[in-house]
Amino acid sequence: MKQVGFLFDLDGVIVDTAKYHYLAWKDLAETLSIPFTLKDNERLKGVSRARSLEIILELGNRTMSEAEKAAYCTKKNDVYLSYIDNLRADEVLPGAGEFLAAAKAAGIPIALGSASKNAPRILDKLGLTALFDAIIDGTVVSRAKPDPEVFLKGAEAVKLPAECCIVFEDSVAGIEAAHRGGMKAVGVGRKEDLPEADAWITGFDGLTPADILDMLK
Ligand code: BG6
Ligand code: MG
Repeated sequence: MKQVGFLFDLDGVIVDTAKYHYLAWKDLAETLSIPFTLKDNERLKGVSRARSLEIILELGNRTMSEAEKAAYCTKKNDVYLSYIDNLRADEVLPGAGEFLAAAKAAGIPIALGSASKNAPRILDKLGLTALFDAIIDGTVVSRAKPDPEVFLKGAEAVKLPAECCIVFEDSVAGIEAAHRGGMKAVGVGRKEDLPEADAWITGFDGLTPADILDMLK
């Protein structure tokens, strides 16, 4: 097998936390009397907390001071963390833990590439931290996906050229970030939601790292 590295998004790829981001934003949108649907939520996937709030404000044709934005972001995060505090090990997406372990056993370097500032807390809670060679999260990136920064930093951290890295992503912004970084992108989700991905999987159950390389040939 040629040397490859795997770069994983977190929310919606390794663990089913995308639903909690949605519920927390929905709660906030209701507070602000802004209609917010599951379809609108697709635009929030992969983007930073601050940008997510801006998108919601755009949907409601609203503006706010920077201080108010910061307060609402904190409020959203408090609601989100109340869900995370109750996160269960069975909310790791089916097969994700086994797939990570198989990749590690095969000598494939693994990095996390997530916009979330809560990523280390979530990985710790799920006991997955040790499977990662590097963790690039929302505290170390300054430009949100679709900017490739998060994945370029991931490739650098595992000491591989970008073209040797494969990104696993459930968001349109993340697939674009991978491509802008010169990497292949496996869409975790439906082809109709992630049309630009290079291959699609619905989860990791029963998949091996070699299966992924075959898909991308
Ligand atoms: C991404 C999610 O992983 O992290 C986004 O897809 C989220 O929906 C972003 O807004 C930032 O997360 P956090 O946990 O720092 O608010
Ligand atoms: Mg995601």
